[in-house]
Amino acid sequence: MLTLENIKYSKNSNDIIKGISMKFEEGKVYGIVGNNGVGKSTIGYIIMGLSDYRVNEGEIFLNERNITDMPITDRAKNGISLLWQEPARFEGMSVKNYLMLNKKIKLKEVEKALDLVNLEPDKYLNRLVDKKLSGGERKKVEIASCVLLNPKFLIMDEPDSGIDIMSLDMIVKIIDYLKERGTGVIVITHRKEIAIKSEYSYLICAGKVFLEGKSDKIVKYYEKTCDTCGHINYAEEN
Ligand SMILES: Nc1ncnc2c1ncn2[C@@H]1O[C@H](COP(=O)(O)OP(=O)(O)OP(=O)(O)O)[C@@H](O)[C@H]1O
Ligand SMILES: [Mg+2]
Repeated sequence: MLTLENIKYSKNSNDIIKGISMKFEEGKVYGIVGNNGVGKSTIGYIIMGLSDYRVNEGEIFLNERNITDMPITDRAKNGISLLWQEPARFEGMSVKNYLMLNKKIKLKEVEKALDLVNLEPDKYLNRLVDKKLSGGERKKVEIASCVLLNPKFLIMDEPDSGIDIMSLDMIVKIIDYLKERGTGVIVITHRKEIAIKSEYSYLICAGKVFLEGKSDKIVKYYEKTCDTCGHINYAEEN
């Protein structure tokens, strides 16, 4: 169980997250939805523990353990992973070496992970993870790397961004695969097709949980209300 209790976070005297509580269990899929700039990625960074995203108030627990002050590397060691909205590139490293940074990982597993993200291993294993790899290909390599990590909790920040529409099925398949293996998947998304894969969703507005509950209900509300909301990011006024 991963728990956020009344988390507040501000940056340059800007209150970005204004008291958020959330609960995530392993082996379940959760959606985080909301308009641009409401704080979704920030929540992901806070859970992952990026150094610039230490909370001002509130606590984070991994099972019974208080991890509020735990650095990112220790959170990673304890099974928390993040798929970035914009993955980085590593000049000069091959896809194969990048995915086998953890020496325990076998080539067969790497090939299987590449197959899962629809990248043919024969074509991609020796490609470099640099500018010549397209944004979508890079993102797929990053998804393969998250699969290989086998995390307890994976935050996927807009897994479909930069990926062609044909690959939506792939993302949905990956989410199912992770869930079956017992990973708690927290998926930040604007896409209905992905959000409805989750069993429970949080709708974020202006740094707060505006609504939470069964995903079909939350997604319906989001589509109907937030898409046309003229007061983007003003939850207090609603
Ligand atoms: N370093 C910073 N300094 C000041 N404001 C920031 C900083 N980082 C983020 N913000 C602001 O915090 C708010 C939340 O940003 P965040 O990236 O979490 O939004 P988001 O919900 O992920 O949006 P999107 O759907 O566009 O990805 C935005 O208004 C953003 O401009
Ligand atoms: Mg974002």
